[in-house]
Amino acid sequence: MGNQMRLDRFLADAGLGTRTEVKKYIRQGRIKIGEEIVNRPDLKTDGQDVFFDGNPVSASPEHLYYLLNKPAGWVSATEDTREKTVLDLLPPHPRRNLFPVGRLDKDTEGLLLITDDGALAHALLAPGRHVDKVYEALVRGKLGEESVRAFENGMDIGDDKPTLPAKLELIEDRIENGVPYVLVRITLHEGRYHQVKRMIKACGGEVVRLRRLSMGNLTLPDGLLPGQWLKMTADTLFFLANSNKQG
Ligand code: URA
Repeated sequence: MGNQMRLDRFLADAGLGTRTEVKKYIRQGRIKIGEEIVNRPDLKTDGQDVFFDGNPVSASPEHLYYLLNKPAGWVSATEDTREKTVLDLLPPHPRRNLFPVGRLDKDTEGLLLITDDGALAHALLAPGRHVDKVYEALVRGKLGEESVRAFENGMDIGDDKPTLPAKLELIEDRIENGVPYVLVRITLHEGRYHQVKRMIKACGGEVVRLRRLSMGNLTLPDGLLPGQWLKMTADTLFFLANSNKQG
């Protein structure tokens, strides 16, 4: 608190309505600060003791956090002239610079954190932080113990350096129309362009479906369907992140 801003801006930021709507509420005498009805939209306020129809108005939080289950078909960008972006799945937030923390390919589903908290994004993405990312992939082809070892040892996928040690878990083999598939879980400690797809390809398979299950201690909540999101506060994000800690 302490930051002073125009009353109409404060009310709009708090989610009461558009700037025009909140100016109307002010004119109608529905806004009080303490006991006093206020009638100037340009009055400066620090947000203390503001009431709308007698109900306290809470300041908009400093940062917004959305945990999205990204559906396939949407790009992880803030703007794209042709494609639907993940931000189009959220309610509009004028004046908030929301962005996805890291990228998932257009055809990848799963956990994506969207925020305007640059410090948090840096903490999760900075090289050397090694935040674990867990993916589930459906792979066309056969993978065996030699692929598990290749993931463990690091492999050449055409970059300057081999991949860092990663984990491949073989979950289930399937045959569909005579074609072999394998469901796998993969844990990476880095994030390179198309990394899962390229590592699987280097093992002779092809990813046909990819879903991110977790990032660091943040896990995709059960029951959150593709396209659905959870709006979180810094506190709930911290709680969710820490309640998922393993071991
Ligand atoms: N690896 C990929 O190949 N694609 C993603 O979207 C994420 C990781």
